[in-house]
Parts: sequence; C-alpha cells; structure tokens
Amino acid sequence: MIEIKNVSFAYGEQPILKNISFSVGSSESVVVMGPSGSGKSTILRLILGLECPQSGEICVDGQNICHLKEKQKQDIRKKIGMVFQDGALFDSMSVWENVGFYLLEHTDLSIDEVGKKAVEMLGFVGLDANEIMDKLPEQLSGGMQRRVAIGRSLLSTAPKAMLYDEPTTGLDPQSTENVLELIAKLNNERQIATIVVTHQITDAIGFAKRFIVIVEGEIAFDGTLEELRDSKNLDVLQFLAPFRLSFNEVLKKEFFNYT
Ligand SMILES: Nc1ncnc2c1ncn2[C@@H]1O[C@H](COP(=O)(O)OP(=O)(O)O)[C@@H](O)[C@H]1O
Ligand SMILES: [Mg+2]
Repeated sequence: MIEIKNVSFAYGEQPILKNISFSVGSSESVVVMGPSGSGKSTILRLILGLECPQSGEICVDGQNICHLKEKQKQDIRKKIGMVFQDGALFDSMSVWENVGFYLLEHTDLSIDEVGKKAVEMLGFVGLDANEIMDKLPEQLSGGMQRRVAIGRSLLSTAPKAMLYDEPTTGLDPQSTENVLELIAKLNNERQIATIVVTHQITDAIGFAKRFIVIVEGEIAFDGTLEELRDSKNLDVLQFLAPFRLSFNEVLKKEFFNYT
C-alpha cells in the first residue's frame, strides 16, 4: 500500500531524511518511533505528497505520488486518513458536524442522512452519540476529541491507509488505551494499512507487530518487538534507554498476553 524507496529529503540545505526505505502492506500496522526532530512527521507529509523527496520514490497504492498532478494527488489522499497530533477539529462546529464535515461539503446527502451516519460513526469509535453529538469539541476530553478526529477521517474517505501522528500525546493512560484499541480495531476489522508515529514507545508497543526507529533521519531499526528488545544498535539503545524499565514491563505483559 505504501512504499518508500531510497528517499532522501531536505528542507533547503538541511538534510532531514537520509536514504530511507520501508513499505507497509495493505493490512499491516507499523509503529514509527524516534526522538523529537528525527523526521517522523516529515515521513507522513511525504506519504501525503505534501512534500516531494530530492531523491527516491514514494508510491501509494502503486502510484508515485510525486509524479502526479494536484488533482490526482487529491484522489490519492482520499485513500489516506490522517489524524494529526492535536486532533485538528473545527472548534466552532458541533461534534456531529465535525464527523460529517466531508459528507456535508462534498455530497448531496441531506442533513438528516449525514447526521445519521455521523451518529453511527460516533458509536463505532466508542462514543455515546446522544451524549456528545451537539457539544463543541472543547467540551470533550482529549481522548474523546482524538476519537472524534478518527471518526471524521473514516467518514470522509473510507481510507485504505491511516496515518496517525502522535495519537496519544497528552492523553491520560485510560484514554491512551482507548485510542490505541480503536486504532488496532480499525487495522484488524477493516484491513487498513496503518502507520502510527510516536515518541512514546511504551504506549505503542501493545498493538503493532513491526517497529521502525528513526534516528536523525536514518532508519536505525526495522523489526519485531523481540528484535527491538535485543537490538545492539547504539542509536536504538540510546533511544530506548529512558524507557527501558517500563518497556520491559510492557514486554512481560505482552508476552503474557501472547501465551
Ligand atoms: N517546514 C519546515 N521547514 C524547515 N524545517 C522543518 C520544517 N518542518 C520540520 N522541519 C525540521 O525538520 C526536522 C524533522 O522534523 P519532524 O519531521 O517534524 O520531526 P519529528 O516529527 O520526528 O519530531 C526538525 O529538525 C524540524 O525542525
Ligand atoms: Mg512530529
């Protein structure tokens, strides 16, 4: 679904990504981790075709996004749901209008029909529609806002891929768990290729089978959780060090879950 081949990218003179390659299959789920400033969000911007690499290729669903005209790029973007770090909801619109925004703007569906679909979607993302549909985003907790944002991208595009940029940042442990469960459910039930970008590794460990660590624009690691635990790569060890204790605890719990 997503293929990144020998991609190098710089903002002006400043190299950000250095010859990175990885691909994500159509029902695969990958966590991309790395220190702040290592180039994680830039990778998502490249996949969306918001930037083009100086060298290398980015293919989404078989098409090299940088070779396309703006209109065709937009068609590709319709296949990709993007959830930004802050949820990026429209403050002045109610929750249901946020979720139904794309349908209200781009289809002939009546307000009633969109409302019905928005209510269904709110239920799907685990929210009580009756309770919150007429509220404003600011009246919801951070975790609920994040789920509304996920619901909105699902209802806009019926995506084949979902990109999440730091989806659990700023959330309490319970909301973090709820959001991650939702991401995993989407990946499993709808077979959506999934990339979760995060610097909070302990949150993301639970649900993906594959992990990529980016350090200073290079891929320092690409593999399973067990391989990550045993990695001797110095950049990886340094990145993991602050998390080591909680990481080991999560690992224990995960192995326990697997068995
Ligand atoms: N629009 C931009 N122009 C110039 N430099 C940028 C821009 N966006 C990000 N950067 C720089 O690129 C590097 C990588 O940023 P980013 O991909 O956001 O990292 P991450 O998401 O891993 O924290 C950082 O050094 C950042 O300052
Ligand atoms: Mg970022």
